[in-house]
Amino acid sequence: LRELLERDKKYVWHPYTQEKTAKEVLPIVSGEGAVLRTADGTEVIDAIASWWTNIHGHSHPYIAQKVYEQLTTLEHVIFSGFTHPPAVELAERLLKKLPSKFTKLFYSDNGSTAVEIAVKMAIQSFHNKGIDRTRIIAFENGFHGETFGAMSVSADLGLNNAYSKQLFDVDRIPLPIEGQEQAALDAMQALLDDGDICCFLFEPLLQGAGGMVTYSAEILDQLIEMCQKAGVLCIADEVMTGFYRTGKMWAIDHLKNQPDLVAMSKGITGGTLPLAATACTEEIYKAFWSDDKQKTFFHGHSYTGNPVGCAAGLASLDLVEADGFVEKIAHINAKHQAFAESIKDHSTVKNWRICGTVIAIEFETGESTGYFNNLRDQLYYFFLENGVLLRPLGNVIYIMPPYCMTDAQLDKVYGLIAESLSKFG
Ligand SMILES: Cc1ncc(COP(=O)(O)O)c(C=O)c1O
Repeated sequence: LRELLERDKKYVWHPYTQEKTAKEVLPIVSGEGAVLRTADGTEVIDAIASWWTNIHGHSHPYIAQKVYEQLTTLEHVIFSGFTHPPAVELAERLLKKLPSKFTKLFYSDNGSTAVEIAVKMAIQSFHNKGIDRTRIIAFENGFHGETFGAMSVSADLGLNNAYSKQLFDVDRIPLPIEGQEQAALDAMQALLDDGDICCFLFEPLLQGAGGMVTYSAEILDQLIEMCQKAGVLCIADEVMTGFYRTGKMWAIDHLKNQPDLVAMSKGITGGTLPLAATACTEEIYKAFWSDDKQKTFFHGHSYTGNPVGCAAGLASLDLVEADGFVEKIAHINAKHQAFAESIKDHSTVKNWRICGTVIAIEFETGESTGYFNNLRDQLYYFFLENGVLLRPLGNVIYIMPPYCMTDAQLDKVYGLIAESLSKFG
């Protein structure tokens, strides 16, 4: 074990980690359900579904079997000029779960690329029609990933200072949280009146990395309506919210007005393999349909449409469609509600919110809320030392469980959070 950690230290650079000050990483050798195990048998409850990806539990035998079958049938094939059954079937099944206006699915391999593809499709669809519209609107406090385009459309959360000169400009509007609804509508109207807007990009209902912030579906509906009246394309970044995180298959299922593009990843394979997809409407697709080669969508990653990833996606969808799945989602939501009731009056609770299977609690620290709040590391290690993986966003702690998490496991996580409220209050 020590030897593994030394080799890790020598050769591996971990994401989102200040390697000089971070404590030693935890070596995980296996996973089962919501539990991760270290070599010495220590168990850790994965209360954040391993960066919001794992929806059915770790090493799920059904997904593993389907992945194995696909691996021994066809592991990979170039997706330009070729196709294969898992990619076709997954596209069909995902599109059936989206509103009927979505008719085409474009594969990639992570959430950032799914968003970049959506933005590129929006921009090029206007370009191909000879219309000069390139400006992008996005919410303050939004997060959409780490590639240059995804960083540009993300708000300034203090993570991308080094690249500020390379990032392109995006027009920002306030998030319609309580008290800011009219400001969001007014800011949108002012930008639409200004003209040349290509698209409006948003995390529907729940902003993730920005601090698990929920906002008004009603105002989002109005913003989409305003955009669509002005011919502006709407892009829902469902990378984190998709696959029942917000209580329904998609967060946009809570809306009356539907966007024109949807980016998805994370839960798509049940957290098993990297895969992402961007769904678009027929109208957008048609803007690329031409005898003119310049109107082609020149985008594709080496692993686009990987058959094993698609097979994992199909297996994950089978589990989503299995009896009892939707009830589990409702059950987690009900347990979150009961827990929130029990702690909401604690003096350390500055704010709390629940959206589907996600509960977030903002700790009162006397400092401003944010990613770099000093409480973050203390909370992270407190939970880990007590056998629970929670990854606070600054002073905001949240649970985003695999849906297979048992009541006993959830109760253990709640108990520790309650304890931390007193310990760190
Ligand atoms: C809403 C949202 N969009 C995009 C991304 C980027 O996804 P990935 O990390 O897979 O590139 C994330 C990641 O957390 C996200 O939460």
